[in-house]
Amino acid sequence: MSQETTEQQLDAVGRPMPDFPVPAPLASHGPARVIAMCNQKGGVGKTTTTINLAAALAEYGRRVLIVDFDPQGAASVGLGISPHELDRTVYNLLMERDADIHEVVRRTAVPGLDLLPANIDLSAAEVQLVGEVARESVLSRALRPVLDDYDLVLVDCQPSLGLLTVNALTASHGVLIPLECEFFALRGVALLIETIEKVRDRLNPRLEVDGILATMYDSRTLHAREVVTRVREAFGDTLLHTVIGRTVKFPDATVAAEPITQYAPTHAGAEAYRRLARELVARGDAA
Ligand SMILES: Nc1ncnc2c1ncn2[C@@H]1O[C@H](COP(=O)(O)OP(=O)(O)OP(=O)(O)O)[C@@H](O)[C@H]1O
Ligand SMILES: [Mg+2]
Repeated sequence: MSQETTEQQLDAVGRPMPDFPVPAPLASHGPARVIAMCNQKGGVGKTTTTINLAAALAEYGRRVLIVDFDPQGAASVGLGISPHELDRTVYNLLMERDADIHEVVRRTAVPGLDLLPANIDLSAAEVQLVGEVARESVLSRALRPVLDDYDLVLVDCQPSLGLLTVNALTASHGVLIPLECEFFALRGVALLIETIEKVRDRLNPRLEVDGILATMYDSRTLHAREVVTRVREAFGDTLLHTVIGRTVKFPDATVAAEPITQYAPTHAGAEAYRRLARELVARGDAA
């Protein structure tokens, strides 16, 4: 019985859990803060976090743009857009100087949430950009015309630290690092942080790590608790209070091509992403 009260008041590593207030409505929109969802490890919850955090922020009245920056197009598919039906994607924006971003951005079924879609075409960009002038800041330039229209831009990175990811980091104000709560979660995080620091030193001095988000957390296992405790020891309060529990509702929502906030609005998974949205606003990382 006392366990339940404890769980309500403490986060997964035993810190007091603040009560993040519902953010006040915005009187006007923009300019956007750009956040990259980044971890070169595959399958850690980058796309799930991009879609559901964006949908939660949109519920709070924020205007949000998702940039699908993975040739797999998972964020596009997860929002109901078939990648092979697209004739213009983020690839065209990167490669064609006269491409108009307004013609590539699409509305989604979530009010206030737009998408810059991607498909497999984007895989060619990694190679084709190598010869470009200022090849690391192509995305940054491409996004500039719409920054004033949004409060947040969330960039869903592919699982690599290649040139596309460097472009995402160069275009961003902050980085969110989703970490799956499993034994090897911390492997590679040092390399990721090193990459972020290099981009900050050489290309984008404003870049900061907004937070590490523990995903697929199973509170019933000691193992998951050990992992978050180690993340806390290594990274301190960069570990966000909000953790995302492991639940099959996330893959289910992906199959339904909807954010969990619409697919199962009262489910704990939807509540977790709303809490993440409120935490980021409270930290000053989101409008
Ligand atoms: N909290 C969760 N609980 C259960 N399953 C989850 C959770 N978050 C994500 N998943 C599932 O895990 C798989 C990987 O998640 P996701 O696609 O978000 O990871 P990713 O980091 O974007 O992967 P990639 O590196 O391939 O782009 C998906 O099938 C997704 O539905
Ligand atoms: Mg992904």
